[in-house]
Amino acid sequence: MTPTSGFFLCSEQRQQEIPGRTVREKPVPATSVIGLQWGDEAKGKIVDLLTEKHDIVIRYQGGNNAGHTVKFDGNTYKLSLLPTGILQGHVKSVIAPGVVINPHAILKELDGLAAGGKDCTDRLMISDRAHVICPWHLLEEVAFEAARGGNAIGTTMRGIGTCYREKMGRTHAIRIGDLILKDAFAAKVREIVPFKQKVLNALNPDGEQMDADQIIEDYSACADRLRPMVADTTSYLLDALESGKRLLFEGAQGSLLDIDHGTFPYVTSSNSSGCGIHGGSGIPERAIQQMIGVAKAYTTRVGGGPFPTELDNEVGQKIREAGNEYGTVTGRPRRCGWLDTVATRYSARISGVDSITIALLDVLTGFDELYICEAYNINGQVTRDMPSRCEDLEIAKPVLRRIEGWTEDITGIRRFEDLPKAAQEYVTAAGQLIGSPVSIVSVGPDREQTIHVPY
Ligand code: IMP
Repeated sequence: MTPTSGFFLCSEQRQQEIPGRTVREKPVPATSVIGLQWGDEAKGKIVDLLTEKHDIVIRYQGGNNAGHTVKFDGNTYKLSLLPTGILQGHVKSVIAPGVVINPHAILKELDGLAAGGKDCTDRLMISDRAHVICPWHLLEEVAFEAARGGNAIGTTMRGIGTCYREKMGRTHAIRIGDLILKDAFAAKVREIVPFKQKVLNALNPDGEQMDADQIIEDYSACADRLRPMVADTTSYLLDALESGKRLLFEGAQGSLLDIDHGTFPYVTSSNSSGCGIHGGSGIPERAIQQMIGVAKAYTTRVGGGPFPTELDNEVGQKIREAGNEYGTVTGRPRRCGWLDTVATRYSARISGVDSITIALLDVLTGFDELYICEAYNINGQVTRDMPSRCEDLEIAKPVLRRIEGWTEDITGIRRFEDLPKAAQEYVTAAGQLIGSPVSIVSVGPDREQTIHVPY
């Protein structure tokens, strides 16, 4: 087999096949952080902690449906489309081909950071292969969600799914590389708008009428600002990897929202498990040598879809209030429930996680008793495997393990052995049931509220 990339060559081959090029003997392992639940696992804090040890942070899927809250330098930042790592001055940030970009949303976020004294534009690279969310995607989403009535997916209404649908359909898709070419972009919009308008009018005759010229003017103004940041991020990242730069991949949403492996159809439209890293960034899968899965100590979900351990009662409400479980992007109250290790184990296995972070353990302080779901009972069959059909997950009854609660404030604890015995037991059981060692326990939003667990 003829090797095609310097990254996979042995050192002699490298010398022969890439003359004059400096490559390291061994590539520095890349790291990735992914959510193991239905999103909002507090990945932002973990990425922020890891960014210190990396040179480049990469967002590779999703769009401004994601919400990351990061505390940095005493300020709280809410990021959606930009990688969380962008807040740290020493790193380059990359938005890779697999992301869908609303030009207004990304500029608004950048402007917000600049207004707070953090101008990041010179450290951000946006892939020319990434797709553009256009006004018709937002209008289509409203129509499609309405058509599902009571079965609506409960999307974030950011045009994410409709933009990805366009990408797969190919005929009317626009990429960032097209957006920044004035004439090519204008020609595409003039071709697409009449077609889309026909479809939209058929779905809703009283709906909004688009104005192609206005869209061209509006998006071209955004393009003028984005152009200096647009690049071939794929080559950039491959070169960076070969020259020993440390890459950190930042997953958005959670594995159970993965379009192929999640709780379809109540999922997002990208590969939000570890499976999306290669496809979304163009970086070979084997470059990822450290896959960190993040799970909350309990479970939350926003939008529709099955949720076997949901607590639609005062216990769920108590978790919601203690954890401030309201959406970063939409403000919607999150559905809350017990930790589900059937679902989380599945997520950890499909992504091959090396270790897990248990986040927001402090939220569970003050409960008399806690429960962890260790299996599902589906029509009398007990299983630890995740059913593929949502209909089966809808009727799955959680088989729960009871664990004693604790009342002590744990937010100031920094060593695992100093946690109350019950909290230790809870974390140990979670790790065993998920099937991965717990390397970090987070007991509060601040960086220092972190327990590193030797494993
Ligand atoms: P979409 O990604 O806007 O298409 O929404 C599809 C589903 O994914 C909905 O249930 C959303 O609530 C959910 N979702 C999308 N992004 C996030 C996220 O960052 N956190 C939690 N849920 C999300």
